[in-house]
Amino acid sequence: MSQAPHHIAIVMDGNGRWANKRLMPRLAGHRQGMESLRQCIRACVQRGVAVLTVFAFSSENWRRPADEVSGLMDLLATALGKEVAQLRKDGVQLHFVGERTGLSEKICAGLAQAESATAQGNRLVLNICFNYGGRWDVAQAATKLCASGQAITEASLASSMAMAHVPDPDLIIRTGGEMRLSNFLLWQAAYAELYFSERLWPDFDDAELDRAIAAFSGRERRFGQTSSQLLHPKDAGKSS
Ligand code: IPE
Ligand code: IPE
Ligand code: MG
Repeated sequence: MSQAPHHIAIVMDGNGRWANKRLMPRLAGHRQGMESLRQCIRACVQRGVAVLTVFAFSSENWRRPADEVSGLMDLLATALGKEVAQLRKDGVQLHFVGERTGLSEKICAGLAQAESATAQGNRLVLNICFNYGGRWDVAQAATKLCASGQAITEASLASSMAMAHVPDPDLIIRTGGEMRLSNFLLWQAAYAELYFSERLWPDFDDAELDRAIAAFSGRERRFGQTSSQLLHPKDAGKSS
């Protein structure tokens, strides 16, 4: 089996279409998506992935019909009640990444409680991006720096980002067939390898995860250098 990337990030897309195909309400797709996420967390732990980041609700998803938005909020509240004890047992350290303003007090309290209950987890860091947008993250980091009178540099911005507690993702997977980032990890995606899967998120399984990891393993990550520099690091700096 291929060596797993250190940090995998996933745009979990396609829940609505999965439900539509079955003539079910969109929320049934989101519920099935939770099952996929539960399995994906397990699979990442088994494969030795250190960090998993998932996009669960974007800054723009507020534009959806009110009943879908409230259904998604309820799904999060239910999951907080049901899943945290098992995640804690499995050694998962949970972080909720995103803007808290706009979320109910009850949900905010649940998020904080889940984070502190799992803070000792040392097998997998799980970042759940909820009410998150990459542009929000850059803006909030810059605002913090300005307020404290610090200069804006790449390093100071990176360390003020909501994802500063983990290294940048190595592999970003998007399910559902769309080839776009939809405001996910704009800053952190700079050198991520991208994998687009036709699978709808509720149909995502271990085999598809392994295909994404295998594709990642076959990529040459050059970070601006040439192939020959990577093959012969001693020659770095010389041209050939
Ligand atoms: C992703 O699935 C989940 C959220 C955005 C909350 P979608 O709900 O976007 O599913 P599609 O893209 O409509 O199929
Ligand atoms: C991105 O999916 C957000 C999440 C998966 C949470 P969307 O379904 O909202 O993206 P667009 O609107 O198709 O770009
Ligand atoms: Mg979608």
